[in-house]
Amino acid sequence: MPDAIDLYDPDGYVDGPPHETFERLRNEQPVYWQPMPDGTGYWAVLRHADLVAVAREPKTYSAARGGVVLEDLAPETLAMMQDMLLAMDPPRHVGYRRNVAPQFVPRVINQLEPRVRTICREIMRDAAERGDVDFVHDVCAKLPSQVVGELVGIPEADWPQIHAWSERNSGGQDPDFSSGYSEDASNATIEMAMYAIGLAEQRRAEPRGDLTTLMLSMELDGEPMTDIQFGSFFVQLVTAGNDTTRTMLSSGLLALLDHPEQLAELRADPALIPGAVEEILRWANPLHYFRRTATRDARLGGVQIAEGQKVGMIYTSANRDAAVFRDPHRFDIHRDPNPHLSFGTGEHFCLGVHLARLEGRVFFEELFETFPTIEQTGPARRQRSNLNNALKSLPVRLCAV
Ligand code: HEM
Repeated sequence: MPDAIDLYDPDGYVDGPPHETFERLRNEQPVYWQPMPDGTGYWAVLRHADLVAVAREPKTYSAARGGVVLEDLAPETLAMMQDMLLAMDPPRHVGYRRNVAPQFVPRVINQLEPRVRTICREIMRDAAERGDVDFVHDVCAKLPSQVVGELVGIPEADWPQIHAWSERNSGGQDPDFSSGYSEDASNATIEMAMYAIGLAEQRRAEPRGDLTTLMLSMELDGEPMTDIQFGSFFVQLVTAGNDTTRTMLSSGLLALLDHPEQLAELRADPALIPGAVEEILRWANPLHYFRRTATRDARLGGVQIAEGQKVGMIYTSANRDAAVFRDPHRFDIHRDPNPHLSFGTGEHFCLGVHLARLEGRVFFEELFETFPTIEQTGPARRQRSNLNNALKSLPVRLCAV
């Protein structure tokens, strides 16, 4: 294998994910050791079956021990992450998730459909007035920040600030979003958590019917949730629910503009939209990876993993695994079945999955209904990141007639 392979370098993702390298490695070294600039390294798990095995064995592959990003975090940042659902291990994870899960089941989420549709129509109306827009920020970003803002109970005046923190938080490797690499991302995390602590104080004084009020009434480790623990949860929910959804919507439009015959099919038959959303998620999964840390020695995909080593579950590679997907590099809105891993699998399977799917379906229904013509007016620009598989701009002209 040539030395030039570097799956970590964020520069290697600016022109699109390194799909050819992933494919070669899936065949030759499917669990690949990737050194990192800080002197550590990680096992990149590239095949679908191996990734599923890691995600479904939380006792061997811990989300809590080193957190879910590849970089080793400062102790206080790691401690904060460990109070997020995403970075808890069983049994703590199970108990905590059981408390919040009822708020995210289809029956509850589906009740949000009229509200999601109203928000989409307002966004489309604004966009129609402008015509020429940056689809990422002027259109897509607005839906999840409003939906999550309402769900959590963030006052509307604060949505832009939350959005800015969220971008700095997840844009840590891209100089356009953050002033100083990952240090700025962790400052944004702390500022957002401080904001959440203020919100918690208000809700304790004046409870409402939002998720914040519910969370504050919950117990964690047998004790009432503290404001600091709430801060961690808040940061996770807001970040998880915002950027990923924005990316699904913007990458989705780009994929469809690149496949105009499939876009025409969707316009002719909107019942195809849910299947198209799944294919968008497989094709342009918003997150490249999440990390685990081995709690004991283990064998995986022919290699020996040592206790304490980092393991990256590379969704971007697993979603193109020919052992699972026929013609994996073809974008196909009719693909069925489509067992992509863009929402993870196992213990930590995305809690917001039904909300994300609802937002995706309603958004594209309203977009195609409002704009008979959508034209790309310049090149799409991608975020420099080995974690977020995101566009940072997509210039388009939206024509309502
Ligand atoms: C297209 C949109 C989304 C994508 C691609 C996505 C992706 C993911 C992935 C891959 C995981 C699994 C993490 C792991 O295995 O370590 C996850 C977990 C999670 N997601 Fe999402 N997500 C999306 C939208 C949302 C939304 C809208 C929310 C909530 C408002 C949300 C909340 C969560 C939470 C709370 C977890 C942690 C669950 C747990 O650890 O038990 N996500 N998401």
